[in-house]
Amino acid sequence: MKMTMGARAQMGLEYDWDRALGAPFALAPADLVQEGLVDDPSYNEENKKLGEFCAAVMQEELAALAASRAPRGKRIGIMGAGLMRDTRFWIPRAVSLGLQVKIRDISRVACKNARQFIAENNLGKGVTVSRGDVEDWRVWEDVEDARTLAFYAGQFFQNQTKNIMWDMMYRVGSQFLKIPHRCVYILHPRGEDNPPEKVRWRNTVPYTDAELFDAFGHGFCEGVQVLPLGKHLYFHQTYTLFKVRAA
Ligand SMILES: C[S@@+](CC[C@H](N)C(=O)[O-])C[C@H]1O[C@@H](n2cnc3c(N)ncnc32)[C@H](O)[C@@H]1O
Repeated sequence: MKMTMGARAQMGLEYDWDRALGAPFALAPADLVQEGLVDDPSYNEENKKLGEFCAAVMQEELAALAASRAPRGKRIGIMGAGLMRDTRFWIPRAVSLGLQVKIRDISRVACKNARQFIAENNLGKGVTVSRGDVEDWRVWEDVEDARTLAFYAGQFFQNQTKNIMWDMMYRVGSQFLKIPHRCVYILHPRGEDNPPEKVRWRNTVPYTDAELFDAFGHGFCEGVQVLPLGKHLYFHQTYTLFKVRAA
């Protein structure tokens, strides 16, 4: 079932992302922050390493997307940009390869940060930002003209409730991936790699593979492939960058 922003807020599902993203060490591991184990140098260094890991993996992927024979324009949609730790090094590369980047985020702070990044890097022609819920994003309906070749969701599904995450993944598998050559990149902390005795989270659910990809075993999602492209240690959290595509 698709829920509107209002319905979500009424049900108390709305997390205050503006407040969260504006806090000091906003996206550092909550448990280490509480223990006083994060400072400016370590936070900056870990964020940089995360960004470099994602850029290294995405470099080849972007080249392949740019080379694909899409009929009219080529886009990559970003679900939940946050503070762009994981996307800031590869977005300029995507634009230089001729890809259009579309960012969607529900938070004013995230959108303001993204617009500032675009201005500072002269990316105005290649990147657009819209504020709102990914669930209601019109780009999901871009099935007909097939301009959106890929979505990138970095630390995004871990912040959705199980039902919403499942519904989104079902749309990925049953609609989006029905067009050939499309794919979805997912940066996620697998439950298997982040046991609760090792990592305590803020509002993240470290879904296991079985949970995160459960929707692909249902209905019209047949043939979806999940490929791990690499793993990265962010402080003591282990992230995997997955590529999901049609077989
Ligand atoms: C954990 S942050 C992403 C962090 C990002 N990868 C980074 O490195 O800075 C998650 C982001 O997704 C956004 N978000 C969460 N759920 C959303 C939804 N349903 N629709 C749109 N944006 C959403 C939040 O506002 C937040 O900016």
